[in-house]
Amino acid sequence: MPAHDLRSTRLVGIVETQTRDFDVVVWGATGFVGRLTAQHILEHYGTSFPWALGGRSETKLSAVRDALTAETGVDASGLPLIVGDAADATFMRGLAERTRVACTTVGPYALYGSELVAACAATGTHYCDLTGEVFWMGRMIDAHQDQAQASGARMVHACGFDCIPADLGVFFVQQAMKARHGVPGKRVKLRVAGFKGGASGGTAASAINMLEEQSRDPEVRRRNEDPYAINPRGRRNGPDDPDSFRIAWDADFGQWTGPFIMANVDTRVVRRSNALLANAYGPDFRYEEAMLMGRGPFGFVKALGLATALRVGMAAMTVGPVRRAAASRMPAPGEGPSRRVREAGYWDVRLLAEHPSDSSETLRARLTGDRDPGYGSTAKMLAESAICLARDSLTSSGGIHTPASAMGEALLDRLQQNAGVTVQIEGP
Ligand SMILES: NC(=O)c1ccc[n+]([C@@H]2O[C@H](COP(=O)([O-])OP(=O)(O)OC[C@H]3O[C@@H](n4cnc5c(N)ncnc54)[C@H](OP(=O)(O)O)[C@@H]3O)[C@@H](O)[C@H]2O)c1
Repeated sequence: MPAHDLRSTRLVGIVETQTRDFDVVVWGATGFVGRLTAQHILEHYGTSFPWALGGRSETKLSAVRDALTAETGVDASGLPLIVGDAADATFMRGLAERTRVACTTVGPYALYGSELVAACAATGTHYCDLTGEVFWMGRMIDAHQDQAQASGARMVHACGFDCIPADLGVFFVQQAMKARHGVPGKRVKLRVAGFKGGASGGTAASAINMLEEQSRDPEVRRRNEDPYAINPRGRRNGPDDPDSFRIAWDADFGQWTGPFIMANVDTRVVRRSNALLANAYGPDFRYEEAMLMGRGPFGFVKALGLATALRVGMAAMTVGPVRRAAASRMPAPGEGPSRRVREAGYWDVRLLAEHPSDSSETLRARLTGDRDPGYGSTAKMLAESAICLARDSLTSSGGIHTPASAMGEALLDRLQQNAGVTVQIEGP
């Protein structure tokens, strides 16, 4: 793959006036998805702009740098290595001061992510991550939103499979609704038509840590269950209900539906987008997600099986010994799906926006990704988010954002050009 010269892409935003050594630091480059993220940047952009690899072990970082050269055929030997610990506030501040964008895959974020968020908010450093930890996003928003607004740092959680397809999918279909009908949809449904992939140790560790925190602190559970948990202060209410594990017949899609496991993250991010975009989707906007499970008795049984498995699984995981036994059987940190599994993977989501007054004027959209959702595709989405924050001419102000509110169209363009994502309106 040829290296692209980033200097020819759109201009940088608010941090441009400051002198930084790097446009992007991939923090956590020794981890499973961090390494894939670095690989995407190297394959697509080479070393045409200053960027660096970061982590806690120089030996591991150096080995990753050598492996990246071997895997991509692009010489990575000049990439600087930044070595330190995520818990060291002074080190994290120094890292933030040296880069336009901190792109982090060091998770579980609730355990290892807070110092970097604080440092970026304080230093006006743009930031993107892969967290799906709603309670932690809420903590970061409460603690750092004001400072990020003041410093001009555009800080974006959830730049992977959760929650870019949902967040940018809704952004896209609502823009199309407005262009076609002059109004946003009053309600948007996202339906997952399919996906194929595997799980990594980091994802397993994040899920287990979230359950541990929930079991220790009822406030964490309350926040995770609140449908408006990460909306701005004073705007944490609206027409949507808490998530349910129910199954339903969806006449719009002609299929039975079951619960989608990421819905409790995606829906929060989409609702925050609406709030940050000045209610661009409407003050009473409603949003929900589900999995398409097929038609007839077979679809019904599949939907019921999924809902039952999730309900039983979630209940079992609230029991400490069960949780710990499950954790011991999950992939270890650093492990994840093979290249073959990643390349054979895909994701496919459908959206339907309902017109506020004319039920015949619905609009449908489809988004797909060409790799497994959690790693192959996620790494490309995260890498392009970092490049977008570093290089594109964005109009959003500083603050703790969502992908749609920070980057919107610019990121949609990048994902379609460079990340194997397709986005289209379906039907007439
Ligand atoms: N949003 C999504 O769709 C999505 C998809 C995939 C993953 N994720 C999330 O992304 C995160 C990473 O996943 P992963 O599978 O890549 O995890 P991983 O392989 O375990 O990688 C974790 C990284 O964090 C580093 N690290 C851990 N503690 C550190 C510390 N104290 N200081 C500095 N670095 C430290 C590790 O360094 P060492 O190599 O030295 O141990 C490694 O580079 C997880 O939180 C996961 O849930 C989200």
